[in-house]
Amino acid sequence: MLLIALSSLALFSCVCGENPAVQLALTDKGLQAVRHFAAGVIQEKLEQVELPKVEGRIMGIHYTLSGMKITQYDFPEPEVHFSPFVSGLVLSLSGLNVALTGDWATHLGAIWVFQWLVNIFQDHIRSRIQKEICPCVEDAIQSLEQHLQAINVSVEVNPVMSLELPLSAPPDVHDDSINFGLKGEFYSLESHTDPPFVAPPFSLPIQTEYMLSMGVSEYSANSASFAYYISGHLQALVNDSMIPSFSPIRLNTRSMGRFIPQLQQKFPDLLMVLQVYARQTPLFSFEPGFVKLDLLSAIKAFVVQSNSTLTPVFKLHADSALSGKMWLDGKKVLSTLKMDNFSLSLASSEIGPFKTAALEGLAKMGVSKALDMINKKLAQGFDLPHTTNAQLVNSVLSLEKGFMAFFSDAKFHSTL
Ligand SMILES: *[C@@H]1O[C@H](CO)[C@@H](O)[C@H](O)[C@H]1NC(C)=O
Ligand SMILES: *[C@@H]1O[C@H](CO)[C@@H](O)[C@H](O)[C@H]1NC(C)=O
Ligand SMILES: *[C@@H]1O[C@H](CO)[C@@H](O)[C@H](O)[C@H]1NC(C)=O
Ligand SMILES: *[C@@H]1O[C@H](CO)[C@@H](O)[C@H](O)[C@H]1NC(C)=O
Repeated sequence: MLLIALSSLALFSCVCGENPAVQLALTDKGLQAVRHFAAGVIQEKLEQVELPKVEGRIMGIHYTLSGMKITQYDFPEPEVHFSPFVSGLVLSLSGLNVALTGDWATHLGAIWVFQWLVNIFQDHIRSRIQKEICPCVEDAIQSLEQHLQAINVSVEVNPVMSLELPLSAPPDVHDDSINFGLKGEFYSLESHTDPPFVAPPFSLPIQTEYMLSMGVSEYSANSASFAYYISGHLQALVNDSMIPSFSPIRLNTRSMGRFIPQLQQKFPDLLMVLQVYARQTPLFSFEPGFVKLDLLSAIKAFVVQSNSTLTPVFKLHADSALSGKMWLDGKKVLSTLKMDNFSLSLASSEIGPFKTAALEGLAKMGVSKALDMINKKLAQGFDLPHTTNAQLVNSVLSLEKGFMAFFSDAKFHSTL
């Protein structure tokens, strides 16, 4: 019998003292699935084991063992548990029984004859074989470790931002679950600045009939929003060639002169450009069943002079209140977005005051059109995350006050 106790999986580093924006609970049902998966991986590795030829000398007798194969093995499912010493999971395996066949030879020939020698040989050879098999199981555990590290402490999400997932406190071990609080904050890769708001606490209801319970705070979404805002990605320059050709309204002083008469008088027949930007970080708030998003933006208008100089003419504030819903359909996350309120007001003007009511109607139509396009994209849905070794099944998702709740089982395939 081989006795093997293995391997600390130091998955996380810990940043203590902050409220976690992501909470993850692995229930007893989930832990059993992880153990079962680990057993499958170790079994596969053992099946692939190639034992080298073992040669040695004992009491002046030279021997060779060759062509050894594992014909049978038997081990209990490994223990997986939390270790406060390594801030991670500990996987241990003990009581591995292995039966081997192989050929052996000595220069003495028929040594079976001498039972006492055989006994000595057995102990000696057993320890040699243990030396060969243990590294192999270590190896299996190591490749397991790589697969369990599905969560990186920091994941680069796109060229703009990364998602940081260190533990915000040591895991909380209960009778029927292990609960992990993760930082769950998006950072701009450029500035790596913390948002000017803090993660509020929330309490995730754990459902033990699922392997996994997860809660994502609205703070996570808002830190992503802040990362976009601070890195200057929430702005755009709009010119006439970007307005769809079917639109009767063009971005020039003649067309806009219908809403702002002094434009065409002061700057006859010139093109215009608009600088559109978020005035502050757009903030999400998660409510039971829906998400609200307040978008405070500004539109700065310029006339393009014939020598290409941009002359500022006015600035508008456009405030939109949007709301969205999110649900699961099989393996896809679906969502829709709608406009609840929109208002346009004049913030400053280089060409004197003018009324914004007609422009507001026009801008509202533009926002509606943009939302139609966004909703067409959202209707295609996003796939739930999966890896080559694991797939989420029986998942449910709901929006709650301050956070999104997600419950799921997982299916593992132990192919390495
Ligand atoms: C996890 O981090 C490692 C090292 O930083 C990186 O090589 C790997 O691509 C990351 N994996 C994912 C899924 O982001
Ligand atoms: C409008 O902007 C686009 C993209 O920045 C640019 O390619 C195009 O030349 C601009 N058109 C005019 C008329 O300035
Ligand atoms: C461009 O034309 C405008 C209007 O005629 C004028 O005020 C401005 O000084 C000119 N700028 C340059 C750099 O020539
Ligand atoms: C829409 O916004 C305006 C201006 O901010 C506000 O006065 C009004 O109460 C809002 N309407 C709704 C339904 O929220």
